[in-house]
Amino acid sequence: MATASTGNKHAATALTSRKVKGLQGDVTVPGDKSISHRALILGGLAVGETAIEGLLEGEDVINTARVMEQFGATVIREGEGRWRVQGVGVGGLAEPRNFLDFGNSGTGARLIMGLAATHPVTSFFTGDPSLRRRPMARVAKPLQEMGAQFVTRQGGLLPLAVIGADQPMPITYRLPVPSAQVKSAILLAGLNTPGRTTVIEPEATRDHSERMLRHFGAEITVTDTPEGRVIALEGQPELTAQHVAVPADPSSAAFSVVAALITPGSHVTIRNVGLNPLRTGLFDTLVEMGGDIAIVDPRDMGGEPVGDLVVRHSALRGVDVPPERAPSMIDEYPILAIAAACAEGETRMTGLAELRVKESDRLAVMATGLRACGVQVEEQADGMTVTGGRIKGGATIATHLDHRIAMSFLVLGMVADEPVTVDDGAVIETSFPGFAALMNRLGAEIA
Ligand code: S3P
Repeated sequence: MATASTGNKHAATALTSRKVKGLQGDVTVPGDKSISHRALILGGLAVGETAIEGLLEGEDVINTARVMEQFGATVIREGEGRWRVQGVGVGGLAEPRNFLDFGNSGTGARLIMGLAATHPVTSFFTGDPSLRRRPMARVAKPLQEMGAQFVTRQGGLLPLAVIGADQPMPITYRLPVPSAQVKSAILLAGLNTPGRTTVIEPEATRDHSERMLRHFGAEITVTDTPEGRVIALEGQPELTAQHVAVPADPSSAAFSVVAALITPGSHVTIRNVGLNPLRTGLFDTLVEMGGDIAIVDPRDMGGEPVGDLVVRHSALRGVDVPPERAPSMIDEYPILAIAAACAEGETRMTGLAELRVKESDRLAVMATGLRACGVQVEEQADGMTVTGGRIKGGATIATHLDHRIAMSFLVLGMVADEPVTVDDGAVIETSFPGFAALMNRLGAEIA
């Protein structure tokens, strides 16, 4: 695979962000991480050659590309964001000859656990220290019901071995946690399972897997019922290679959006941002806070809604964020907490127990970092209340191998009286290569 050096591991490098006057300009942030993983996985499983454009070339996605190669797919990088994948066909995964390293990526590991679970191969999964702390039993449990076997560390942690089922059985599974990763793992396992695999989600989560499965020719239905969304997939379809255009990641755009809202004098345009309604909870919340965010030229891009965002500096007010909004902005609470620190009054965020099992314990890490910068924060078991005010800054933040923590505090540094440093800026490479350069082009001073 010609991946250049995009998948390399980096040594931790501190980055410092200082106060600036205002952000101006027009940018495009990298491709959507969730969609990029899925494009490589389904491309690797389809018959024929899938062409992908706009693929996120962050470490998480590169690791998924390498893993799909180990399962027998051919993955070729043709140019910036342009990749070709020659798939093996549903049921055609080869047994990997070595362990599979997913780096920092929960999405890569959990989705591919699903894929491996219903192919008659044995594979060994591992990842970085952050991923090795994250719960995998939530995925292993339904996959065991489908016939796979798992050997994990105590507590269901990586490294783990998946012994794929010889004769997989379809299940109907009600998600106990609102997780698109668990849903997607079961659906991917359902691909090589005869009969109908059904997932019931009481709270809707991002539906990129459903959209893309349909795009590749799978028979999949989604029905809204009083119990929640019922997603049913017919097993053993022939997936056919497709063209996939990946929109810019709204979770990455979030950092430029909040930076522009809180930095006086800012006026920024962010192009081609994915606006799937199951991803846009942050933008809705920021608008409720008084944020001036306009969506220009809404359009469709490969089955996903996209648009350009035009954002101007705004005086923000604290709000109560409804807990049922959490699935549509689950990755955005760190950067929302930064917006809240710059808003007038209190912002209350609840229903967020899941944040404790992300790349870091995001409730604890955000609360500690914000306090170090002089912000008043109350941390609860499943939430956090942030009181806005003047930002002192002048702290070094421990990022705990969490890209979104690193980017969030670099945004806070743009409005703090004293510079804000993050101890590990290299971790940003997992999801947003070129983050500092892009922000600096808009007028930030991150070095
Ligand atoms: C993702 C789902 C979410 C999200 C993650 C990406 C996906 O995780 O936090 O960054 O691509 O399916 P959960 O499914 O654990 O909520």
